[in-house]
Amino acid sequence: MTAACAVLAASPESQGRAAMVAEALGLPQVNTAADGAYPVALVVDADDQWLQLIGRGVPGPVRVDFGDPAMRHRRKGGHNELLGRAVGIKGDKRPSVFDATAGLGRDAFVLADLGCRVTLCERSLVLHWLLQAAVNAASYCRFDEVRAASSKMKVIGGDCLEHEVTDSQVIYLDPMFPERRSRAAVKKELSLLQVLLAHDPPVPDDALLDWAMTRGADRVVVKRPLKARQLALRTPSYALKGKAVRFDVYIC
Ligand SMILES: C[S@@+](CC[C@H](N)C(=O)[O-])C[C@H]1O[C@@H](n2cnc3c(N)ncnc32)[C@H](O)[C@@H]1O
Repeated sequence: MTAACAVLAASPESQGRAAMVAEALGLPQVNTAADGAYPVALVVDADDQWLQLIGRGVPGPVRVDFGDPAMRHRRKGGHNELLGRAVGIKGDKRPSVFDATAGLGRDAFVLADLGCRVTLCERSLVLHWLLQAAVNAASYCRFDEVRAASSKMKVIGGDCLEHEVTDSQVIYLDPMFPERRSRAAVKKELSLLQVLLAHDPPVPDDALLDWAMTRGADRVVVKRPLKARQLALRTPSYALKGKAVRFDVYIC
């Protein structure tokens, strides 16, 4: 993973912060995006940070920013209702969720916004750092609902397989799955994640489900492309289907 990404200061003024971030994450620092050795830059500004694929014709920056208009717009999406139902939100019930594959924190934010306490586990050092920075920033956000959601999110690092899940009722899995999702914004995020994480040793998706099913949670929810096979070929208790994705729900 470290070979895929280098830290780049957004401006001369942010060189100092970029150097600190590079040291903290054990990443190289480059002076220009034209340095072709790294396919992804973690661009660091004085009070902002984002990921950028390097090269000609690549899509634009990818941020983890729970206060940005696109994230706040997501709050109203039909997807949220399906995700909420999948984890067991009903009436006043707001189960606590262990998001074992947090990624860019999109789903975790939706769940926290719906009122669930969410632990976000992410094994990529860069994504873990971006998630923590985003939760910190969200706690000062001018929008009340974003601050409220941030207070329900806790970020942890490392491989989920090495964590105990003692205080969550639901384990949520969203393994990487290239052939799903067609919207341009999602494609942009997915192509960046694929490059950034290309060097991480893969944990087979099926092993993730086997792990989740033995943690003592009340339910395990797996996000899948609509027509994909079930993980580990395990038949779920039921599935909730949206336009492009499906949530396989395993009641334990
Ligand atoms: C498709 S992304 C998840 C996207 C996320 N649901 C969102 O809404 O942004 C999958 C993420 O899982 C992480 N991941 C994969 N295996 C993991 C593991 N064993 N432990 C922790 N994180 C893992 C990857 O690093 C990647 O960031």
